Amino acid sequence: MDTLAKQLRGQFIMLTVMFLLGMSVNLIGLPGELSAGTLKTIDGIITALHALIAIGLVVGAVRINRTISKNAPTLRTLAGGAASGIGIAFLGGIGVFALHDAASNAASFVMAAGFIGAFLAYGKLYMQTNVARK
Ligand code: HEM
Repeated sequence: MDTLAKQLRGQFIMLTVMFLLGMSVNLIGLPGELSAGTLKTIDGIITALHALIAIGLVVGAVRINRTISKNAPTLRTLAGGAASGIGIAFLGGIGVFALHDAASNAASFVMAAGFIGAFLAYGKLYMQTNVARK
C-alpha cells in the first residue's frame, strides 16, 4: 500500500499546484486577452504548466485506479469517481479555450467543479485505505 500512499500524495500535490496556477490565470486573464509584454509571457508559461500538470493528473488517476483494482477492489467506485473528476476538469480546461464568452466561463466552472470533486474523492480514498497512518 506504500505505492498507493505515494500515488495519492502525488495527486494531492498536483491538484494543489493546479489550483494555484489556475487561479493565477483566472485573475491575470487568459493569454489571448492580454497585450504583448512580460505579463502575457508569464501568463502563457503559467497556462502551459497548468496544462502539463493536467496530463500528469490524468496519468496519476490511471495509475491509482490500477493500484486500487489490484489491492482494494471494494474502493474501485470511489477511485473511479475521483478519476472522473479529473477527466471532467480536463475537458473543462479544453473547453475554456475551445469555447467563447459565457460558454468559456461555463467550461471554467466545470473545471473548478471537477477539481473539487476529485480533491474530495481522493481525500476520502486516502482516509479509507488507511495509508494516512503509514
Ligand atoms: C485535471 C485537469 C485540470 C484541473 C484539476 C484544473 C483546475 C483548475 C482550477 C482549480 C482553476 C481555477 C478556477 C477556474 O478558473 O476554474 C483552473 C483555471 C484554468 N485552467 Fe484548469 N484545470 C485542469 C485542466 C486544464 C487544461 C487541460 C487546461 C487547458 C490548457 C486548463 C486551463 C485553465 C485556464 C485557462 C484557467 C483559467 C480559467 C479562467 O480564467 O476562466 N486547465 N483550472
